[in-house]
Amino acid sequence: MAEQGWKADLPRPAQRYVIVVDEAKFAEAAAQRLLTRMTSIKDRIAVCLTGGSSPEGLYRLLGEEPWRSEVPWDRVHWFMGDDRFVPLTDPRSNMGVAKRLFLDRSPAPRGNIHPLPTDANYPEGAANIYEDELKSFYGADRLDPARPLFDLVLMGLGPDGHTASLFPGSRALDEKSRWVLAVTKAGMEPFVPRVTLTFPVHASTREMLFLVDGSGKRDILQRVFAGEDLPGSRAYSDGELVWLLDRAAAPETVS
Ligand code: 6PG
Repeated sequence: MAEQGWKADLPRPAQRYVIVVDEAKFAEAAAQRLLTRMTSIKDRIAVCLTGGSSPEGLYRLLGEEPWRSEVPWDRVHWFMGDDRFVPLTDPRSNMGVAKRLFLDRSPAPRGNIHPLPTDANYPEGAANIYEDELKSFYGADRLDPARPLFDLVLMGLGPDGHTASLFPGSRALDEKSRWVLAVTKAGMEPFVPRVTLTFPVHASTREMLFLVDGSGKRDILQRVFAGEDLPGSRAYSDGELVWLLDRAAAPETVS
């Protein structure tokens, strides 16, 4: 495993860990963590990816040797936690980025890649279709905390504290029953309609791994770790909740 500074003892939730690594080791530490998680599972594996720049180094590694040969591609299913309602070929598409950086360079079976259906007529329709797809993959309409939907969920943190497409002040933050929602109002500028998994669905995982790097994230991380009511602080996991930070992003209280 890459160099780590383990810091536990954050106030909530109980199973929260922060790992701080040097900038140069950030992507490798994420890849190692993902591989360790995947190889601990003997049957079907479900990974929920995230957008943004923070996971791009990880995605590049997964598309290259020696990492590519380590991934049990036949058994891994790749989902996306949120996306802009744009075609996969649009540079703003999160799944489009993941495809270009590693999925298209891998032997992943086509049926194992589950993009949000941004070819639906409306974001609401895409949310309904993806919710059905997730329920069918899971084999039930209700999530059982003892049987997580995902094995690993990647998350990012925006400068305003958003995570996935769950933005400060949005009613989506309180959603308990829907699995997937259209985001057609609040959000980042310039506005692009989005589709996002809700918190309870992101939480249905053995491990939630936040990837946050760069000095521009230090202030918002400080606020999240102080427990301010922000989407990033509301994210929870039925399994482990791990924050992987580089030294530039880590607030003084954890570095
Ligand atoms: C997206 C993400 C979003 C992202 C954060 C952090 O589609 O952009 O889902 O929630 O994870 O904005 O982005 P960075 O990694 O670029 O800082």
